[in-house]
Amino acid sequence: MLNFSFCSPTYFEFGKGAEKEVGALVKRFGTGAPGAGKTLLHYGGGSIKKSGLYDTVVASLRENGVEFVELGGAQPNPVSSLVYEGIELCRKENVDFVLAVGGGSAIDSAKAIAAGAVYDGDFWDFFQGRYVEKALPVGVILTIAAAGSEGSPNSVITNDKTLEKRGCSGEVIRPVFSILNPELTQTLPPEQTAAGAADIMVHVIERYFSNTKEVEITDRICEAVLKTMIYETPRAIENPNNYAARANIMWAGMVAHNNLCGVGREQDWVSHGMAHEPSAFYGATHGAALAVICPAWMKFVSRVNPDKFVQFAVRVWDCQMNFEHPEITAREGIERFELFLKKIGMPSSLKEFGAKEEDIPKFARHIGRVGETEKNFGGYVKLNLNDVEEIYKLAFL
Ligand code: NZQ
Ligand code: ZN
Repeated sequence: MLNFSFCSPTYFEFGKGAEKEVGALVKRFGTGAPGAGKTLLHYGGGSIKKSGLYDTVVASLRENGVEFVELGGAQPNPVSSLVYEGIELCRKENVDFVLAVGGGSAIDSAKAIAAGAVYDGDFWDFFQGRYVEKALPVGVILTIAAAGSEGSPNSVITNDKTLEKRGCSGEVIRPVFSILNPELTQTLPPEQTAAGAADIMVHVIERYFSNTKEVEITDRICEAVLKTMIYETPRAIENPNNYAARANIMWAGMVAHNNLCGVGREQDWVSHGMAHEPSAFYGATHGAALAVICPAWMKFVSRVNPDKFVQFAVRVWDCQMNFEHPEITAREGIERFELFLKKIGMPSSLKEFGAKEEDIPKFARHIGRVGETEKNFGGYVKLNLNDVEEIYKLAFL
C-alpha cells in the first residue's frame, strides 16, 4: 500500500424527508449570520420543479430566514457559459454560499461557480490544471446516484466554445454537506438509473485496476461496492420505488467516488478521459459513454496485463477459475460485465450516440494529455495515442 492523505469531511444527512433540513443546514454550514451574504440556489433543467422538491427547498430556506437568489439551467454535461453567469450573479448579489439541488451536472456547475466567484482570473484556469485553493462553501441535495460529486473534490465542465470537457480538483470544493434522500431518485427514468449505475461501477473500476500490491482492504471495498451494484441496479430498474435498492445504490455512489476505494494505490482513469469526448461532441450521457468505453478499454489492456482481470472475474462476477488458462477466466469476467450493462439497457457502441469512426483521431487528439509515442496515459497499462485510437475502434464494434 502506498502512503496517502485522506480527509473527507462532508456532513451527510441521509434518508426519508432529509431535504426538509436544508434551511437549517445552510445556516449551520454557511455563515448564517444576520446581514451575511445570500445563498445561490443552483439547479438543472426542471426535474426538481416537476417533483415538488423545489417548493420544499424554498420553504425550508424561508423558514430558516436564509436569503437566496437562484439560477437554474445546468444542463447534463454542464457548460462554462452558465458558470460565468453564476459567477457574475454571485458577485452582484453578495452570495456567500452555493446550494446545488440535482445531479452531478448541477453540483459541478455549482462547484465551478463557487470557485470562480472568489478568483480574480478566469475560472477556466482551474480546468486547465490549476488547483482550486479557495471557494465559497457548497451544499448539496442529490437527486440522482451517479457522479459521486456529492462527496468528491472535483468538478467536470465542458467549455462550450472549444468543446473541451475537463475536470478540476480542490479540497475546498468538496461539499460541506450533502443531503441524500433515496426517495428523491425514484422519479428517475430507467435509462438515467442505469447510466448512473454504470458511472458508479466505473468509478470503482478506475481504482480497482491498479498494479499496487497488497491492497486487500481497498480491493475488498471495491468488490463490495461492485457486487452491491450488480444486485441492486436491476431491482431499482424493475421497481423504481424500491426504497432499499435506491438507498443502497445512493450510498454506493458516494463510497465509489469520495476516494475511500482509491487511497494507497495507483489509479487508472483512462475510461473517463476517453468517455468525455463523445459527451463533449455528441452530448452522450456520461454513464452511457462509460458503458461503451470501459469494456473496450478492458479488452485492450487485459491482453497486456491480465492479472487483475482474473481476480475481477472470480471475486466480482463469480466466474470459475481456469488455472490452466487464466486468460479465459479474465475474458469471462469482461463478458459478464458487458452482459450486465446490456441487461440494464446501456448502449454497446459509440455509434449509438451518432459518433462516426472517422471521429476517432479527432477524439484521441482532443483528450490533450496523451503522448504521441510516449506511453503516459493511464495507470494499469500505460497508453499512447495509437493505443487510445485502438480502444476507440473497439468501442465502435
Ligand atoms: O436537469 P434536470 O431537469 O434536473 O434533469 C436531470 C438530467 O436530465 C435528470 N434528473 C436528475 N435527477 C432526477 C432527474 N430526472 C428525474 N428525477 C430525478 N430525481 O437526469 C439527467 C442527468 O442529470 P445529471 O446531473 O447530468 O447526471 P449525473 O449525476 O450523472 O451527472 C453527470 C455529470 O457529472 C460529471 C459527468 O461528467 C457529467 O458531466 N461527473 C462528475 C464527477 C465529479 N464531480 O466528481 C465525476 C464523474 O466521473 C463525472 O465525470
Ligand atoms: Zn464518472
